[in-house]
Amino acid sequence: MKLLGISGGVSQKTFVAIEKALDFAYQYDNSINIEVISIGELDIQFCDGRDPAKYEGDAKLIIDKIIAADALIFGTPMYRGSYTGLLKNVFDLIPNDALMGKPVGLIATGGSDHHYLALEHELKPLLGFFLAHAIPGSVYANNDHYSNRDLVSQEVLDRLRELAESIVNFARILPEDKTSLVGARGPAIGRKPLLKKAS
Ligand SMILES: Cc1cc2nc3c(=O)[nH]c(=O)nc-3n(C[C@H](O)[C@H](O)[C@H](O)COP(=O)(O)O)c2cc1C
Repeated sequence: MKLLGISGGVSQKTFVAIEKALDFAYQYDNSINIEVISIGELDIQFCDGRDPAKYEGDAKLIIDKIIAADALIFGTPMYRGSYTGLLKNVFDLIPNDALMGKPVGLIATGGSDHHYLALEHELKPLLGFFLAHAIPGSVYANNDHYSNRDLVSQEVLDRLRELAESIVNFARILPEDKTSLVGARGPAIGRKPLLKKAS
C-alpha cells in the first residue's frame, strides 16, 4: 500500500503535520510505503486543459505519483479561508478518476482556528467531485500548536495519529478493485480540444 502525502504550500507547518501523520501510519503498519511531497518545491506548470497524460516534468511527476497512490493525505495552509492556489492547480491537473475509490485524509494549518470548517466546505466537496472516500475527521492546526518548526501540541499529534490509523484501516478493507465501492458516477465530463493560440 502506497500512502502519499501532498503538502500544498511553500513553507513548513503543513509539511511537518503531514510528515507526522505519515510517520504515525508507518508506526501502525510498517508494511506500507510512505512519501510526502511539497508541491511548493516543484516546478509545476499551470493546468491548461490538455490530456493529463501529455504533461511533462514536475507536472507529470505529481500526476503519476497521485495516480500510483492507494491512499492519500492532502494538506494545505489556509489562504483566504480556503486551500492554496498551488493545490488547486494540482487538482486541476490530475485525471478525473485519479482519486476514485481511494481513501483520502485532509489536514489544514491556519493562523488561527477561524477557518477550521473550511476543511468541510472547501476541501471535502473536491473529494466528492473525484469520487474519493473522504476520511471522516480532518486535522486542523494553528500557529500556536507549533514552536518554530516543531509541532508541539499533543492534542494535534493525537488527532494526526487517529487520522493516519483510520486511513490505513480504511485502505486495508478496500477490495482490490477500489472503484467497486463507488456509487453513481455522475455525467461524463469530456475534455475539449485546446483552443489554438492566436499568432
Ligand atoms: C496569503 C496568505 C493567506 C492566509 N490566509 C489565512 C486565512 O484565511 N486563515 C488563516 O487561518 N490563516 C491564513 N494564513 C496563515 C497561514 O495559513 C498559516 O500561517 C499556516 O500555518 C502556514 O502554513 P505553512 O507554514 O505550511 O505555509 C494566510 C497566510 C498567507 C501567506
